[in-house]
Amino acid sequence: MSAKPRVFVSRVIPDAGLSVLEKHTSPAIWPHDRAPTRDELIRGCKDAEALVCLLTEKVDGEVLTAAPTVRIVANVAVGFDNLDVAAGTRAGVVMTNTPGVLDDTTADLAFALLLCTARRLAEGDRLMRTGTWGGWGIMQLLGHDVHHATLGIVGFGRIGRGVARRAVGFDMKVLYSDEFPAPPEVERELRATRVPFDELLAKSDFITLHTPLLPGTKHLINAQTLGKMKPTACLINTSRGPVIDEAALVVALRSGTIAAAGLDVYEHEPKLSPGLVELENVVLLPHIGSASYATRGKMAEMAANNVVAFFEGKAPPNALNPEVLTRA
Ligand code: DGY
Repeated sequence: MSAKPRVFVSRVIPDAGLSVLEKHTSPAIWPHDRAPTRDELIRGCKDAEALVCLLTEKVDGEVLTAAPTVRIVANVAVGFDNLDVAAGTRAGVVMTNTPGVLDDTTADLAFALLLCTARRLAEGDRLMRTGTWGGWGIMQLLGHDVHHATLGIVGFGRIGRGVARRAVGFDMKVLYSDEFPAPPEVERELRATRVPFDELLAKSDFITLHTPLLPGTKHLINAQTLGKMKPTACLINTSRGPVIDEAALVVALRSGTIAAAGLDVYEHEPKLSPGLVELENVVLLPHIGSASYATRGKMAEMAANNVVAFFEGKAPPNALNPEVLTRA
């Protein structure tokens, strides 16, 4: 490379990624501990040839038109519903994500959230912190057993399978629903059975969501599908918030349509739907599925490597629209 390409990085990212960018490019880093507004993002991209962004930045046709020098957008996330990839393709801009490196970390979090929700750990913690615990009680904080229960996994990709792998250790019965069946050896190893979605809803004690946000998965969980679940069911979401109709979930949790929910993601992040925080039977986490030191480092490094590969004239390994690269 001759002159180092200018890269706008929309937040301070882990050193593993920054050091790669600093070595091979000329990065300008958004210094604040908050997402840039749309205008700030566009201003940051002025004269930049690449954008390294997070899932909090919506990069659509309007942003790309306002930032015509940007040739690659590297998302530091596997989910890319914040990127308008079709607009990128039209504008000749390559877009990349970070698949693979966060699967186990996110599966760990999903399982932790499942346990926390089932056994009411957050409520117990609140009891202790508020000094309101009066001592051991035989009827106190009774929850749901995880071992031997039926787990329904919606979306049986890498993360969904990671959760199934953890469920094996708890002797759970695993059902999954996915457009595509997993190979028989994977089903055998994970003791997982593919069932129609409605059957999964009706039979599962725990339902965990691992589907990307697509037009077809928006509000997949709604008043109607919640109504098909067991009244004792716990719903876990570590995928994307809009997969659940959050207002309908509040009603379902309030009325006992289902027993509990554990959420790491929200329909209108960072805002929560009215009524959610008042409910005791929901565990709320701040979108930390991939938040381990090691994994966030790998994600940042992967995003940086995509940018470097592009400017070295190679195909970025995680291009979402590789067809842009083959165009003259
Ligand atoms: C992702 O990568 O899509 C997660 O939601 C954040 O790590």
